[in-house]
Amino acid sequence: MSGKSDRSFSVQSRIDSLVAMLNEHSYRYYVLSQPTISDAEYDELFRELQELEREHPHLVRGDSPTKRVGGEPLVGFRSITHEMPMLSLDNAMNEDEVREFDAQIKRLLKREGLGQDDIDYTVEYKFDGVAVSLLYQDGVLERAATRGDGITGEDVTENVRTIKAVPLQLRGDVVPQGLFEVRGEVLFRKQEFEALNAERLKRGEESFANPRNAASGSLRQLDPKETAKRPLWFFAYGLGVVESGEQEVLVEVQETLRRSMQFLERLGFSISPHYQTVKGATGLVEQYRRGEGDRDSLPFEVDGLVLKIDDIKLHEVLGFRQRSPRWAVAAKFKPVEATTLLEDIFIQVGRTGALTPVAKLKPVQVGGVVVSRATLHNQDEIERKDLRIGDTVVIRRQGDVIPAVVAPVTAARTGKEKKFIFPAICPECAHSVERQEGGAVTRCVNDLCPAKVQNRICHFASRDAMDIEGLGDKVVQLLVENSVISDIASLYRLSAEDVEKLPRMGVLSSANLINAIERSKQQDLNRLIFALGIRHVGAKTARLLAQCSKTLDGFLNLSFENLLAIDEIGPETARAVSDFLNNEQEVQMVRRLIDLGVAPKPALTGAVETKGTLLGTTFVLTGTYQGMTRKQAETEILKRGGSVASSVSKKTSFVVAGEAPGSKLLKAQALGIQIIGENELRKMLE
Ligand code: IVH
Repeated sequence: MSGKSDRSFSVQSRIDSLVAMLNEHSYRYYVLSQPTISDAEYDELFRELQELEREHPHLVRGDSPTKRVGGEPLVGFRSITHEMPMLSLDNAMNEDEVREFDAQIKRLLKREGLGQDDIDYTVEYKFDGVAVSLLYQDGVLERAATRGDGITGEDVTENVRTIKAVPLQLRGDVVPQGLFEVRGEVLFRKQEFEALNAERLKRGEESFANPRNAASGSLRQLDPKETAKRPLWFFAYGLGVVESGEQEVLVEVQETLRRSMQFLERLGFSISPHYQTVKGATGLVEQYRRGEGDRDSLPFEVDGLVLKIDDIKLHEVLGFRQRSPRWAVAAKFKPVEATTLLEDIFIQVGRTGALTPVAKLKPVQVGGVVVSRATLHNQDEIERKDLRIGDTVVIRRQGDVIPAVVAPVTAARTGKEKKFIFPAICPECAHSVERQEGGAVTRCVNDLCPAKVQNRICHFASRDAMDIEGLGDKVVQLLVENSVISDIASLYRLSAEDVEKLPRMGVLSSANLINAIERSKQQDLNRLIFALGIRHVGAKTARLLAQCSKTLDGFLNLSFENLLAIDEIGPETARAVSDFLNNEQEVQMVRRLIDLGVAPKPALTGAVETKGTLLGTTFVLTGTYQGMTRKQAETEILKRGGSVASSVSKKTSFVVAGEAPGSKLLKAQALGIQIIGENELRKMLE
């Protein structure tokens, strides 16, 4: 053996042992909460590893803790379709509803001939953070995505890599082979949240409203190095896709939740503190009381418990409702309350023209969060609660819900409180307002009301809608106030010259903005439908509408009956959409968009294609292609009924390798997956 390879051999083994030591210490610190070395000792080992890796970049390991400092900044987050939808949970608000959950399960099981006395349940905290899915391939963290709307989320892999409680490589004696998906919650701890906010305020930045927003904001930083600076934590609460293959143990751990959770712990994950298995309604209620009592002593925020049937076979028997499983429920804790002064009430005009009264409150801590504003919804609410300016009021923050003003403390009245007089004209444009008979909402009827126009355009351009980069609230305000745009359609008549004239808009940013607007012409149909700002139509409903109507013309031609026939669309939403489609002005506006070149891509996602030459074929795309972009290739494959996955697994049919392919190619070779080039893909598409 030559001296050189001898030396690199010893460097390699030192790197191996440093990586192993550092990962072990970080596991002890972040997962077990039992550190065995000091921070300074850790830092010293870390620096030694950094040094060695700098000198020998080819020896850097995939599971090196130095990878947690964050890679290159991204331009945006890719959207990812979850392999299995990430569902939500129904709520139980009190002990009676917890008992009812158990009673209902017993009834359902009895009907299936599976009646039993006391059902085994697992009980864990309901974390108040951001749900994510972690995909491991042969034990290595491959991809991380936010829950998003449950069907598609955002690719936050690079940011999740920086979270110390997320194993980059699964630990333990049995490492799951193939795809293995772990689901859980990314969160901020209370103490670190306070420190973060204090620091932000010092720097003149806005503080986060609560730890959940802080977690979500930190996870969605485009620069992973920024995320790396935020002390995020991760708790696992379940499994997603598991390719068990020949691994007996993976079949076993999927028999009960308890076993899955124990397995997750063995793999190096933290799970809910006080994780328990209990029997029947009595056991559940006992834990519910205990949990509520423990709540404040936890280092992070929880808004309840999640109660789940332990036996996974029963999950299959019970199945799902629309969005939530029948075998689990979120048992919510009592909301957190405080009292403070109602200093004033002001009116906000939204994109539908709705005049919303907002309470200006003397800042107060509610459940660890400072609250200074709260919506009062509408005129009736103020009257029903008899709220007066100057009142001492009870504020309630309910888990994920925005703070609410519950009631005035009438005993504290001095007689100086003033009744709020709801404006008879729009405070933004002085135009008349209207309140529909039987409705609670007062609206400004002026279609040119600047507040309305502005909010509508902001919504249209927003990330989940047309996603027009550079067209944030401030720029929209500038454009509207300077009368450069007056409605959505006028966006598409803008020129770079128009924009350049405005204060603070340079040549480059103006050109970028025009390009972004131009690009949005080919946005997906579902996004355009969402962007129109139709009442009751959120991103999810918009997707359903796009799937049913396929094209923009198809959408414009939907009848009330067509709408009602769509599963998951109720009469109220159908009515709102139909009203929109029967409103001359709105339809004309959409037609103007079409005339100006807006041509959304037809809906492809979600609905399973039932015909097509590539049906049942899964592609993974890697590298750059000559004649098309990856996005184009993906669209063409989807059109033909094929699917495109973001990572290589045994289920992949072809890997399409372009120039400079990534690690996917190596994995494909290792798994013996057929690798083809761009030309072969073209032939398949013909
Ligand atoms: S189980 C189908 N367990 O709650 C079961 N969810 O309403 C789905 N959550 O967005 C989830 N803590 O992020 C589960 N211990 C826990 C949880 C938990 C928090 C969140 C989850 C999801 C939401 C569902």
